[in-house]
Amino acid sequence: MFLLNRGKAIVLSCASISQASYYTTAKRLDENYTHFGYKTVKTEEKAGRVLDVFSSVASKYDMMNDVMSGGLHRLWKDRMIQKLNPDNKAVLLDCAGGTGDIAFRFVNYVERQHSQFTDHPNVTVCDINNDILEVGKSRALERGVSLNWVCSNAEELPFPDQSFTCYTIAFGIRNCTNISKVLQEAYRVLRPGGRFVCLEFSHVSNPILSKIYDTYSFQVIPVMGEVIAGDWNSYQYLVESIRKFPAADEFKQMISNVGFKVVAYEPLTFGTCAIHSGFRLK
Ligand SMILES: C[S@@+](CC[C@H](N)C(=O)[O-])C[C@H]1O[C@@H](n2cnc3c(N)ncnc32)[C@H](O)[C@@H]1O
Ligand SMILES: *[C@@H]1O[C@H](CO)[C@@H](O)[C@H](O)[C@H]1NC(C)=O
Ligand SMILES: *[C@@H]1O[C@H](CO)[C@@H](O)[C@H](O)[C@H]1NC(C)=O
Ligand SMILES: *[C@@H]1O[C@H](CO)[C@@H](O)[C@H](O)[C@H]1NC(C)=O
Ligand SMILES: *[C@@H]1O[C@H](CO)[C@@H](O)[C@H](O)[C@H]1NC(C)=O
Repeated sequence: MFLLNRGKAIVLSCASISQASYYTTAKRLDENYTHFGYKTVKTEEKAGRVLDVFSSVASKYDMMNDVMSGGLHRLWKDRMIQKLNPDNKAVLLDCAGGTGDIAFRFVNYVERQHSQFTDHPNVTVCDINNDILEVGKSRALERGVSLNWVCSNAEELPFPDQSFTCYTIAFGIRNCTNISKVLQEAYRVLRPGGRFVCLEFSHVSNPILSKIYDTYSFQVIPVMGEVIAGDWNSYQYLVESIRKFPAADEFKQMISNVGFKVVAYEPLTFGTCAIHSGFRLK
């Protein structure tokens, strides 16, 4: 993708915890690769190179997630799956699924809980960025896990009504242009009885903790972004976008507005994150 846009590389939006560093870093690495191999690298080898670049960026980005959250994002994601508590008949759509972090956890969970069954859960990972999906595909191959990979915008899903029993979206909805549209699509593709679960940053309500969190966010995270990923701006953007995302009660209302019932949320780690959930009942 970036190879086709040299000089004027298009930086797409992304990130688990950080939406942006993926792409700015990939762009820089990619420029080097392209420059280095411009005369000698054959066209068909370029796709592999793009995958290499994105794999290395994805690994770096995974590391940033661990460092910034002190490893907590793993616990948050595990909690999300535990809350969903899928059975082996579950049909999952993991939206903004990136490299498949949530999908792999889902499959592990189902296989651990229902090891007596031979059925594997039907899991689809959807993401707007195809290069990221390619990294996910190769990770799935390494793990020997078979998933469906679909490149699409969460605001306009290419699936028929009532296709899935579970819908997950982790650290993905914050960066979507029209959040209500994403929620409406989630509702549409879920079957009656289907469950919606969203993991996203939220707001710390305790005033003292909030001060500490603000200091950490604005004075520590961008510095770490610069030191570890060489990218201050993306991490600055990250903390700003977290502040702009609706508060938990407002987001809960938005989820109810598209038709979900039994809508609730569970704050995690003093409200730095929250798991929002709801059911499509009919
Ligand atoms: C921070 S990553 C999260 C990946 C994964 N869910 C996780 O928690 O590790 C955010 C992902 O959202 C994707 N994304 C951003 N906007 C999107 C949209 N409108 N539709 C679908 N995916 C989108 C990005 O490409 C990126 O892979
Ligand atoms: C998504 O993230 C990118 C940074 O990666 C940012 O430039 C863009 O404005 C974001 N879009 C929205 C709707 O927040
Ligand atoms: C690109 O190459 C230059 C020159 O070799 C190097 O200094 C720079 O660190 C490289 N950039 C990245 C992102 O690897
Ligand atoms: C998995 O679920 C999707 C969405 O409902 C469906 O299109 C697909 O056929 C299913 N695959 C299998 C093997 O059941
Ligand atoms: C977002 O999408 C909803 C539902 O499709 C629509 O009603 C609303 O006008 C959209 N908002 C914006 C700002 O485009």
